[in-house]
Amino acid sequence: MRGLEDVIACETSISRIELSGEKTILEYRGYDIRDLAKKSCFEEVVYLLLYGELPKKYELQDFKIELAERRELPPQIIGLLTHLPPYTHPMVVLRTATSYLGSLDKKIDIKTREENLEKAKNLIARFPTVIAYYHRIRMGKNLIPPTLSLGHAANFLYMMHGEEPSKTAEKALDMDLILHAEHELNASTFAARIAASTLADMYACVVAATGTLMGPLHGGAAQEVMKMLREVATPRRAEDYVKNKLKRGERLMGFGHRVYKNVIDPRAELLRKLARKLASEGESKWFQISEAIARAAFKYKKLLPNVDFYSASVYANLRIPDDLFVNIFAMGRISGWLAHIIEQYENNRLIRPRAKYIGKKNRKYKN
Ligand code: CMC
Repeated sequence: MRGLEDVIACETSISRIELSGEKTILEYRGYDIRDLAKKSCFEEVVYLLLYGELPKKYELQDFKIELAERRELPPQIIGLLTHLPPYTHPMVVLRTATSYLGSLDKKIDIKTREENLEKAKNLIARFPTVIAYYHRIRMGKNLIPPTLSLGHAANFLYMMHGEEPSKTAEKALDMDLILHAEHELNASTFAARIAASTLADMYACVVAATGTLMGPLHGGAAQEVMKMLREVATPRRAEDYVKNKLKRGERLMGFGHRVYKNVIDPRAELLRKLARKLASEGESKWFQISEAIARAAFKYKKLLPNVDFYSASVYANLRIPDDLFVNIFAMGRISGWLAHIIEQYENNRLIRPRAKYIGKKNRKYKN
């Protein structure tokens, strides 16, 4: 099957997608993402994904502190961020820094459950710091060290912008991270599981996933969506733009999905509401253009938006630069990757499918 469509490649108890008629189920460890997005926080979702259960109140409190205390980067990583050329894409930076973090970990090859969780918590806590520090270094600005007094999402915005975010901005990013945290066997998670199945170290698995997420058919789509919003520039130009793009046989970024074919991606629905709320309180232009594009995409090709579509206007309203959009996706998804890597380690068999050969055969070698 091309692209492994509908192939069941592993068993998992981390998330469930089920399409039954009009209703689409997306659950993390059995909990509906709609409930998690509304009532939970990112740290609680990370705990749920890693440990399999929701934390008790005091466990969540301890876990938040534990993650916050792991945010600062070793000086060697700050040195690396300073030395990378300022035009390096932030996702290249993220995967390079992840690899370097591995080289600094003397226990890199130890794979006990305890050690796996230790590495996982360090990586989840440090991803935002790598992103924010690199961004400030390339802009020639001073580094804003992480603060223990803010949650995961708010601390990231603080390290990026040098000021505490509003409650609305904090909740928006927190919810966005929850919605991006996990999504079954998407391409980057599959890449992570393939690497884990060879018993490669955890950093190698995360590097594989980070590299895979970056592509424009996966997490890189949100940056492309923003490019489109800028090109369209005003809602009244959206219909012609979409019509002409589709006529030329081009893909509309942020639309279509391998799993959600004729139903809306439930994350897109929630992100649309979030984008609308941010637009009503701040810049509304990007959301209005997005709505006009979505109407035209449905009119001309019955295309529905995916998770990356409304993320773009959400990030623009949070003052996140376009080339960091996929890094924000990675900041959320790393929790799902790590849960899958640990699940793979704990019930492993090498992932090694076969290929059907279609090339030339039995050729005679001449020199
Ligand atoms: N724009 C235009 N046509 C599309 C699009 C799109 N975005 N997506 C699917 N189609 C059409 C495609 O042309 C084909 O039509 P036809 O049968 O007439 O040739 C039909 O829908 C099936 O497409 P497909 O390529 O077989 O679908 P797929 O499951 O292989 O691809 C996809 C899924 C996500 C790669 C694709 O929808 C796409 O390229 N979307 C744009 C990139 C994007 O937004 N990616 C983010 C994906 S969701 C979040 C994530 O994983 O990060």
